[in-house]
Formats: sequence, C-alpha cells, structure tokens
Amino acid sequence: MRATVVLLLALGVLAGAALAADAPRLTGPTPALVSPPAPPLARQLNTEGRRTMRNYPEQPPVIPHAIEGYQLSLATNRCLTCHRRQYTEASGAPMISVTHYMDREGQMLADVAPRRYFCTQCHVEQTDAQPLVDNTFIDMDELVVTPGTR
Ligand code: HEC
Ligand code: HEC
Repeated sequence: MRATVVLLLALGVLAGAALAADAPRLTGPTPALVSPPAPPLARQLNTEGRRTMRNYPEQPPVIPHAIEGYQLSLATNRCLTCHRRQYTEASGAPMISVTHYMDREGQMLADVAPRRYFCTQCHVEQTDAQPLVDNTFIDMDELVVTPGTR
C-alpha cells in the first residue's frame, strides 16, 4: 500500500515536471508578471490561386489571399462584397457555400445566416509565423491504410 502511494507521488512529480517543461513553449521564458514588448505581427501571405488542400471535407478552407485592412464588423462586412452570391460574377470570388445560407434548423435564408456572418471565426488567413507547437495531425488517408500495404 505504502509503496503504491510513494510510486503515485513520484509519478505525480514527474508529470508535474513534464508539464512545467512544456509551459514556456507558449508563454516564453518571461516571468508571468513582466510585460515584454509585443513581437511584430507576422506577415500575411498572398497565396492567390494556390489553394491549400483541406485536411478533411468539413474543414473551412483557409483564405488564399491577404485580408489586411478588410473591415469585418457589425456595420460592414468586406468579405461579402466579393463572396456574396450577387457579387461573385464581378469579383470572380467563389460564392460562400450553401451551408452559409442555412439557419441552425437547416432552413434556407435569402442572405448569409447570422451564424456565418463573422467569417474569420472559421476561415483564417495564412502568415509566415513559425508554429509555436508541432502539429501532429495525421490525414485520414494515412490513418486508414491497410496494414502491410506500406
Ligand atoms: C476583393 C474581393 C475579395 C474580398 C474582399 C475577399 N475575398 Fe476571399 N477570395 C476572393 C477570390 C477572387 C478568391 C479566389 C482565389 C483563388 O482561388 O484564386 C477568394 C478565395 C477565398 C477563400 C477560399 C475558398 C476556397 O474554396 O478555397 C476563402 C475561404 C475566402 N476567400 C475568404 C474570405 C474572407 C474571410 C474574406 C474577408 C476577411 C474575404 N475572403 C474577402 C476575393 C475576395
Ligand atoms: C461557423 C464557421 C464558418 C463561418 C462563420 C463562415 N464559414 Fe465559410 N465555410 C465554413 C465551412 C465548414 C466550409 C466548408 C464546408 C461548407 O461549405 O460548408 C466553408 C466554405 C466556405 C467557402 C468555400 C465555398 C465552396 O463552395 O467551396 C467560402 C468561399 C467561404 N466559406 C467563405 C466564407 C465567408 C466570406 C464567410 C463570412 C461571410 C464565411 N465563409 C463564414 C465555415 C464557416
């Protein structure tokens, strides 16, 4: 019994150490109460014409163009000036998909549904920022290969 408790305590300390070693990856080495100068914003990439593959069918496609200075507020939505159905002919932009016109009951609305209004809630622009943590995502295609075929 006592051995189990000691072992559990030791494991707890080890796990704590592992977590502590992990923490600075996001916060950096600066002590919590010190405000360091903000790092410069990453540069937005304009990958116009080069679409990034979606990692799974339901993924909101990433934005293949810079959106710097595009106003997106309650009063005005710059994205819709190109992506709304009525404007796609002039802008050449792909129309927001049909799901963006549905309310949560699946009812089709005449215009973009309020829950799809703030585009950058789901769609992100691309920057040259270095990832803070490694990405361990594995594509479904790799996960479902039959054993022995590779
Ligand atoms: C000046 C017109 C214009 C504006 C404003 C604009 N876009 Fe676009 N957008 C385009 C065009 C054109 C494309 C197609 C680019 C291509 O495929 O070469 C595109 C592509 C996209 C795609 C990729 C779609 C896909 O199927 O891969 C997303 C997502 C997107 N835009 C989101 C946004 C968001 C969010 C905003 C606002 C922050 C925005 N766009 C503002 C013109 C615009
Ligand atoms: C709640 C999340 C969410 C919001 C908010 C949202 N989208 Fe999307 N968008 C998606 C997802 C998920 C897809 C891919 C599946 C689909 O079409 O529904 C998508 C697809 C798209 C596409 C590709 C359409 C196609 O046919 O390939 C465009 C363009 C787009 N969105 C633009 C926008 C714009 C512009 C806005 C803001 C007015 C917006 N989205 C708001 C989640 C969102």
